[in-house]
Formats: sequence, C-alpha cells, structure tokens
Amino acid sequence: MKPVSFIRQVLAACIYPELLENQTFPVDVRQRAQTLLDACEERSVGSYTDSSGLNHVRQSVAEFITGRDGVPCSASNVFISSGSQRALMVMVKLIASGEGDVPTAVLTPVPCRHTLPMLLDNAGVSLVPYMLDKDQGWAVDMSELHRAVNNARGHCQPKAIFISNPGNPTGHVQGRKSIQDVIRFASAERLLLLVDEVYQEYVFEDAAEFSSYKKILFEMGPMYSDTCEMVSFHSISSLGECGLRAGYMELVNIGPGVKHFVDTMLCTDISTPVTGQLAIDVMINPPKPGDSSYHTYMKEKEHIKDTLKRNCQKACEVLNNLPGVSCQPVMGGIYLYPCVTLPEETMKLAKELQVEAGPLYCEQLMQGQAVLIGSGCTHGLPAGIQQFRLCIMVPSDVLEEGLRRIEKFHYSTIKTSAPASQINTQSTLEM
Ligand SMILES: Cc1ncc(COP(=O)(O)O)c(C=O)c1O
Repeated sequence: MKPVSFIRQVLAACIYPELLENQTFPVDVRQRAQTLLDACEERSVGSYTDSSGLNHVRQSVAEFITGRDGVPCSASNVFISSGSQRALMVMVKLIASGEGDVPTAVLTPVPCRHTLPMLLDNAGVSLVPYMLDKDQGWAVDMSELHRAVNNARGHCQPKAIFISNPGNPTGHVQGRKSIQDVIRFASAERLLLLVDEVYQEYVFEDAAEFSSYKKILFEMGPMYSDTCEMVSFHSISSLGECGLRAGYMELVNIGPGVKHFVDTMLCTDISTPVTGQLAIDVMINPPKPGDSSYHTYMKEKEHIKDTLKRNCQKACEVLNNLPGVSCQPVMGGIYLYPCVTLPEETMKLAKELQVEAGPLYCEQLMQGQAVLIGSGCTHGLPAGIQQFRLCIMVPSDVLEEGLRRIEKFHYSTIKTSAPASQINTQSTLEM
C-alpha cells in the first residue's frame, strides 16, 4: 500500500535531521521528529537503544493502550521488539521447558498463519491444534478447546493458547462473549493467553467491533484481571510497513522475575531497529485535529480501510463466480480465505507426481500467472477441497489484475471456457 506520508516524513527527518532546518515538511512533522530524536541516544537513529525499546516509545504505547481500553497500562509492561513475530518467539521460548515425552505445548488455531507452526517448532514447543468453526465464520468453538486441551494432557504440557483477533487468515472478529469464554477457559486451565491483535484497526462488518482482550479481562473483575496471565501483540506491519521490523507486546499479570528474562531474551537482539520503533510511536500517536498533517493522515488511513473493504467485496464477488470456488466475506483483517474444489486435472496430476494437490494448484498458478496465494488448511475437509489465503492489503488495481489472472488460470485448469463477461477486461471487476 502507499505508505502513510506522516510516518515516512517523520522518519525521513529523523534519519536526515538537516530536513528539520527548512520548510520541506509540515511543522508538526518537524516537531515530532525533534521530539523523537531527543528520545534517542546522541539524538541519532544510528544509536542503539535499550533492548526492550526506547523509554519514550514504551511510554507512548502505554498511553495508547490506557486510552484505548480505559484500563491503566504501565510502560514497564511494554516491550518493543523487531516485529510481533519476534516478540511471540521470546514468549514461546520462555515457556518452553518440558522435554521428551512431555514437551511444552501451545494450543494453536487451525487455520493459523503459516509462520506459526515453524515458530513453535523452532522453539521446541509442540503444537496442539484446535479447529476453528468454519460454519460459524471461523469462530472459536469452546467445546473444541476443551477437547484439544483434554486430549493433549498426557502427551504434552499445554502452557499457552494462541489467539489471532482479527484472525489471520480467517478474517473472523471475536465478539465480547467469545473473548470472555476464552479468558475463562485460559484461566481455568492455567494457560498463558498469547493474543495477536495486529489487525485491530481493520474491522469491516458493520455489526462487528474490535474489543481488546485486555479491556474485556478488566471488565470481568479482579478474579480474572488480577490473575489471568496474558500477552498482547501489535505491529507496525499492520500499516503495511512490515519491512521496518517493529512491534510490541504488553505483558499482563506477568511477574517481575519473568519480565527480567523477557528483557534478557531481547538483549540477544541488542536493539530493535530504531526507525521501526519511531514508526510505532507515530502509528499509535497520530496527528491530532488542528495539526497540519491531520487531514492528510486521516485521508490516507481512510484510504487503506476503504481499499481493504472494497477489495474484500470485489474479491468475494469474483471468486464466488468461479466454478467450485466459494468465498465468505470477512469481518476484518487483511486476508480472504476462499475454499476451492480442486479441478480434477490438478487431482490427477498430483496423484501422478505424488505431491499434495493444494500446493500443486498454487505452484501452477504461480508459474502460469505469476500470482502467489497461500495454500491453507485441509484439516476436516473432504479430499480435493482446499482453502487458500489471499492477501487483500494491496492497491485495488493490483488485486484486480491478480483476480483476472486467477480467473484465467482456474478456467484453463478446469478446461471450461469462462463466460466472456468474467474473463475479459470488462469483467465483473470493472462493473
Ligand atoms: C496476524 C499477524 N500477526 C503478526 C504478523 C507478523 O508481524 P510482524 O511483521 O510484526 O512480525 C503477521 C504477518 O503477516 C500477521 O498477519
């Protein structure tokens, strides 16, 4: 996506402070850059920071969370890292203690983002799957959570449950009751809650609303808010600035002894990229009404949200028109998760080559049309049915071109001519 100007301008001025001395950037950009540079050692983004992040940024995050939830957050509970994936790895490594017959395990949703199994594996932690309920738009199914934890005990030691809300790749957004149920479950089973809330700003369904786990936890009273251990993650990647590599986590009800080890683990990175840390500060503390950049900032943020919403509608429309493909509209997030009945040709070829049919379909699509989609879950689905993950956080024209190519590939694979209206450039995409 086109980067948000205010973020890039502040970063540019921090990287090249000579820009502060002229009128190239609006006054609030220069003021913000001055403030952020003052927070850096030697007023330079080229210096290391404390391993847990710049105090200034940790404080800004704490204020953002306090304002969002109406519940106090202390900067000492906020840890900045080089991406939320890194923060999650730190927490997973800290809980990994069991070995041999009783390894430590994390309850993990199926489907989940593709990097999660690798992360757990890398930390030497077992993955205990719990199926999300496809028929309920990939909601969390409490009976499935109980089944998963009960089955796991004896083979491994579940110590945490991972939740993605809004969900990657499902786009499901949990309601208040569902969050309360998960908190009660985690509390009763003494599981650490690892909550990925990276796409908290992206909720499209009118009836849905993002509620943070922290907020709901504190609404549930001291029985939970004083005891339930939780870590919540957020990231600058939510603005499409993934390459800046910065995220943060807030630790709730985690003792000082553990926090000391979190800090020690982050020391192995020496320091999170400073530009990324500053971008986090800008993300959670954007221009206010009256600031010179306010209108542009709001317009650009709205543009991202409108694009996601429009892309979601367009992609669902086009995909649902393809034979054997169905795609539910999502409630939020940046992915669609269509379901495809794989063409017979693909199934036959996969058998011949002795490979899995879903990844083969993706590979053929990539080789034939240069479109990369993620091969998703087949768990619980009949043979030949496959889910795919499609990122919609791209400019609309890029998505539309991608969809055109998917259409073309799909029809060529099923060896059926596409209805003319669907495949030419005046297709459904442009109506
Ligand atoms: C839900 C979710 N959380 C976390 C990440 C990774 O974030 P980061 O770039 O902060 O490591 C991704 C990346 O796709 C994601 O989709």
